[in-house]
Amino acid sequence: MIHSRITGTGSYLPERVMTNRDLEQIVDTSDSWIRERTGIEQRHIAADGQLTSDLAEPAARRALEAAGRVPEEVDLIIVATTTPDRTFPSTACLLQQKLGIHGPPAFDVQAVCTGFVYALSVADKFIKTGAARCALVVGAETLSRIVNWSDRNTCVLFADGAGAVVVEASDEPGIIRTDIHADGSYESLLTTTKPNPETTDPERLADGTAFIEMRGNEVFRMAVNTLGRIVDQTMEAAGMSPDEIDWLVPHQANIRIIQATARKLGMSMDRVVVTVDRHGNTSAASVPLALDAAVRDGRIKRGDVILTEAFGGGFTWGSALLRY
Ligand code: ACO
Repeated sequence: MIHSRITGTGSYLPERVMTNRDLEQIVDTSDSWIRERTGIEQRHIAADGQLTSDLAEPAARRALEAAGRVPEEVDLIIVATTTPDRTFPSTACLLQQKLGIHGPPAFDVQAVCTGFVYALSVADKFIKTGAARCALVVGAETLSRIVNWSDRNTCVLFADGAGAVVVEASDEPGIIRTDIHADGSYESLLTTTKPNPETTDPERLADGTAFIEMRGNEVFRMAVNTLGRIVDQTMEAAGMSPDEIDWLVPHQANIRIIQATARKLGMSMDRVVVTVDRHGNTSAASVPLALDAAVRDGRIKRGDVILTEAFGGGFTWGSALLRY
């Protein structure tokens, strides 16, 4: 049986840091409100002209280096993003070009904040069926491009960044299981405004702006309930107990959602990787960014059992249980 294993992680954050105090100058908000309600203290924002593939490239190179691989060895590229550079080519193809890779399949996965868990799930299946042996899986976002900077309900939450992993065929078990789900009937609670309002009129088509809109309180309740359910289901299906998890690496949307999931699993917060304070909500990038942070600072070690989960627009949600 072929197993799939994460063999390297990498990440990249744009240089520009925006603090809560900076946001106080833009909208009617306060550092204390943002900290108390979300746990966010600062976030990184891409420079003008710095697009999602520009963040994905250094993250991908760092993951390849950590795995001891060169770009030519990659035989599958999946980029999870909601903020592609362009409608097409896909960000995965643009990343492929930047890495100088020619030939293997490259495609984007769009599942908003659950995007990385979806992409990991797809790569896991490619590897386990023998269709690929060395996959590059990236979560990368420039959400600042679709944030309405005059809407205090959302602009304080979202941010930019990229994280990547290399997933390889292995004799040793790595990814134990992935579970992914969606329910489109909640589309109105977390969505973007329609960029081209049902028209083919060339003049109106020119306005391609789309902003994030969220009914935060309702999304919050759904996220807490759904994540609590999925982590239970995943552990039960794997025949494992939460005591066996060394690290929870959750999607970083809100510290209160993260704490609720940890409580549900009976895990203390010192076994939970938290980056929401420094990174904000980077959607598909948040899980691989958090994973890379904890691998590089030495908390996550080879052999550790990791549970990761995410919830996002769609709604989409999912989890991955793995031995690092
Ligand atoms: N600064 C100051 N006050 C604010 C701000 C702000 N930035 N934003 C909202 N408020 C006000 C509201 O106007 C409201 O005022 P009112 O009572 O006078 O009407 C009050 O604060 C409370 O607003 P709520 O929305 O009820 O606040 P809540 O405690 O729910 O926190 C938050 C809001 C942080 C957005 C929370 O609901 C949340 O985290 N939701 C889930 C986000 C999430 O997980 N999204 C999914 C992933 S993202 C993705 O997929 C793209």
